[in-house]
Amino acid sequence: MTIAFLNGDYMPLSEARISPMDRGFLFGDGIYEVIPTYKGRAVGFKGHTTRMAQGLKAIEIKNPYTVDQWQDILSTLVEKNTAFIESGNIGVYFHVSRGTDTKRFHAYPKNIEPTVFGFAFEIAPPQPTIASDAKPFKVALQQDKRWQRCHIKSTSLLGNVMHYQAGVDAGVSETILYNSEGMVTEASSCNVFIVKDGCISTPPLNHELLPGITRAIAIEAFKQAGLVVTETWFSKEALLDADEVWLTSSSKEVAPVIEVDGKTIGSGQVGPVWEKAINAYQAYKFEA
Ligand code: PDD
Repeated sequence: MTIAFLNGDYMPLSEARISPMDRGFLFGDGIYEVIPTYKGRAVGFKGHTTRMAQGLKAIEIKNPYTVDQWQDILSTLVEKNTAFIESGNIGVYFHVSRGTDTKRFHAYPKNIEPTVFGFAFEIAPPQPTIASDAKPFKVALQQDKRWQRCHIKSTSLLGNVMHYQAGVDAGVSETILYNSEGMVTEASSCNVFIVKDGCISTPPLNHELLPGITRAIAIEAFKQAGLVVTETWFSKEALLDADEVWLTSSSKEVAPVIEVDGKTIGSGQVGPVWEKAINAYQAYKFEA
C-alpha cells in the first residue's frame, strides 16, 4: 500500500480519511496538481507550484505551504513510495481543498483550514526517443462543453471527465476539444500541438485552456533545439489536416496521435518532427 500525505501526516493511503463535509467533496472546491518524477527527479516543480499558488489565489484559498515545504512533501512522498513503485516513474498528486465546514453553504466560509492531500502513483515511463518505439494515441473530437475558467486547475473535473469518457466510449483514449468558433483549445486532460509543413503550433493561453507545465517546457525545449514553434489558434479542420498531432501532459510527456475522430493524421505513423521534438524534450525536461 502506497503512502499518502494528509494535513501534515504520512500514512498508508487506505488509512487516509476526510470528512464528508469537506468542500472538496461537496463542491469540488479546490485546486490540484500532478507532478511527474523519474528516478527521484521532478519535472517542472517550479512551474507546478507557481500554477498551484495562482489557482489558490484565484479562488481565495490561502496557500498552506511555502515552496520549500511543498518540495519537502514531494521528496518525502517519492522517498516513502519508492519501495512500492519499483519503476521509479512516480506521479505526485497534490490537492488543496477549502476545508471542512459544519454546514453546506455555497459562500466561502471564514476561519476554516484547507485540507491538504497528496499521494503517489505510477506513471508511464519516459517517452522513447525513437519514433518506431512510441505508442501512438487515437483520440475523439468534441465541442468543449466545460466552463469559462479552464485556466484554473480546479478539482471540479466533471466536465473533463465527461469528455474523456466520450473518448473511451468511442474506443479511443482522449478527446480533443474545440470552442464554439471551431478552434481547438486543448484535450480533456492534455494540451494539443500540431505540425504542418514543419511548423509546430499550439493554441495560445486564455481562459479556454489550462496553462500546461509540459506545454511550457516543451515550447522552451523546442525553441532551444531550433524547431519552429508558434502559439496560434487552429481550427478543427486544420487539426484533421495536420501532418502530425501531439498531446502533452505531465503523465504523457509529448505523445504522438495518429487518429482523430476516426480520421488518419498524416501518414498514420508517428512523425519525424515528433522524433526531433521528443529528443529536445527529453534533453531539456529536468532543467525547467
Ligand atoms: N492533466 N489540460 C488539462 C485539461 C489537463 O487536465 C492537463 C493535465 C493538461 C496538461 O497540463 P500539465 O502539462 O501541467 O500536466 C492540460 C493532469 C495530468 C491530470 O488531470 O491528471
